Amino acid sequence: MYQVIARKYRPQSFDDVLNQDHIKTTLRNAIAQNRIAHGYIFSGQRGTGKTTTARIVALCLNCEKGPTDKPCGVCASCVEIAAGGAVDVIEIDAASNRGINEMRELRENVRYQPARDRYKIFIIDEAHQITNEAFNALLKTIEEPPEWAVFILCTTETHKIPATIASRCQHFSFRSVDFHDLIDRMREICVSEGVEADDESLAVLAQAGEGSVRDSLSALDQAIACCGNKLDAGQVRALLGAFGIDAMSQVTTALSAQDGGAMLALVDELERNGGSPQHFSREMSRYIRNLLVTKISGQDSRLVTASPAEKKELSRIAALFGEEDLTRYLQFSLDLFRDLQYSMQPRFHLEIGLLKMIQAGKLVPIEEALANLGSESRSAAPAAGPAAPMRAPVAAPPVRPASFSAAPSASPSFAPRSPARPEPAAAPPVPAGPPSASDDWREKLQSAMIQAGLQFSADAMMHASAALANNELIITAPKQYQLDLGRDEIMAALKQIGHPTLRFKVVFGEVKVDAAASVARPAAPKPAAAADETTERALAHPEVQRFRELFGGDVRNVRNLKES
Ligand SMILES: Nc1ncnc2c1ncn2[C@@H]1O[C@H](COP(=O)(O)OP(=O)(O)O)[C@@H](O)[C@H]1O
Ligand SMILES: [Mg+2]
Ligand SMILES: [Zn+2]
Repeated sequence: MYQVIARKYRPQSFDDVLNQDHIKTTLRNAIAQNRIAHGYIFSGQRGTGKTTTARIVALCLNCEKGPTDKPCGVCASCVEIAAGGAVDVIEIDAASNRGINEMRELRENVRYQPARDRYKIFIIDEAHQITNEAFNALLKTIEEPPEWAVFILCTTETHKIPATIASRCQHFSFRSVDFHDLIDRMREICVSEGVEADDESLAVLAQAGEGSVRDSLSALDQAIACCGNKLDAGQVRALLGAFGIDAMSQVTTALSAQDGGAMLALVDELERNGGSPQHFSREMSRYIRNLLVTKISGQDSRLVTASPAEKKELSRIAALFGEEDLTRYLQFSLDLFRDLQYSMQPRFHLEIGLLKMIQAGKLVPIEEALANLGSESRSAAPAAGPAAPMRAPVAAPPVRPASFSAAPSASPSFAPRSPARPEPAAAPPVPAGPPSASDDWREKLQSAMIQAGLQFSADAMMHASAALANNELIITAPKQYQLDLGRDEIMAALKQIGHPTLRFKVVFGEVKVDAAASVARPAAPKPAAAADETTERALAHPEVQRFRELFGGDVRNVRNLKES
């Protein structure tokens, strides 16, 4: 009879369990010293060896030669336990037996001595599914178990196990399995199955499991069913809907060329091929994470989850970006992945997410930014910069603004495209004079928000105050509007009124009635009256202004070196 690979190769001893060394050592010692607890909790991601280890514990405890950490594998107990049919090893799937009646039954069962073996072992899978009252029924038993009873609760969600139960158990948490160890295990399995598999196919399968051995082995089953005795990486990828480096590198090509059109074309291509935005964004996160790790630790790092050939390519691409760039892109793509879980419009979300990454721009090393400082200081205010942190290193303005309106001349294949392609520039912001403290900033922001379609933010602005102090806009709003007055919304409004680079700060708390007068930052020491003029002159100096545009920050104190 055909048996799926995951079951056929289920480890029968601690030695065969991949990783989880901390757990194996502790359990081995406990068994060798005959210090068996009555309750264990095995927690962790699915397919990492919880049920497998629970069965191995059962083998160890009930082997005729035992208790031993090396069960013989041939005695009646060993054979029956391995086959899953031993009377004294009771496996309960709590997903379908979660109620009070089942637990009462179990409580009854515990009271009777083992039929043949040393211990009666209860392996409760998906234990977090047990209802609260059923847990209560179990509590007494776990509190004062008969000497022969051992409970092993397996769960992917430990926090759902009541503290009363958890505190009476020893807890082991299973980690997701190492990528390279998993590949080695699959290679062994392929050899003994007579299947030829190259590094790349195995890497694709290992990735597909996301750390779950079971999932990777199921994917291997599927791949063998599809490809026969010789796995082909391309076919395996297509089968699992995985994206190769070739497809993924289109994202980074578009990023490095700041090419919004290429991003949109990519999404279009994905949609037409029936790809899922969620899946794509997860693959993208993995890809960018691999780039980041390659950048930081080098292509030979074990932390890079890719085949040798892919590692080379990753290393080439990683060289195009800085570490900070990749860190930010990874953050963006993780945010995107999270947002997509709840999105009603996944395609639009994906488009926005990718375009945001472009708009975030690439960082310029601080030396370069400083070199630019002198040469540009006398020019007018810079073009609307990307929404980048006003910290060093600074974001360089995009080579060319990403255009939202561009209908991409879609490339027919999901293949890299040439980056440079002229596109209509985005509409420039309304020009505005220098920001003035006498303006009604609250009113200006509110109407800008209405114009920008930010209805919630506009409402929030109504309850806020805004005032300009030291060239910084300070917005004070009640706490409950925290979500509506994010940086993005305010930045959009400032752009709308022609002050895209104005620095601002949002303070959430009580809004004073005479807010405008009272918002001067308490932290900044007031310069003495005599120094006021010096301060004003210094702050008005174009190079100082340019510096603050680039780097932000407060001017705390101004001293005239000629005087002191
Ligand atoms: N750590 C591991 N080492 C080797 N194989 C594993 C490991 N974890 C899971 N497997 C494989 O996956 C299958 C399912 O594992 P299982 O122990 O039931 O996972 P869990 O209970 O954690 O969801 C096993 O039959 C085995 O083939
Ligand atoms: Mg399990
Ligand atoms: Zn045995």
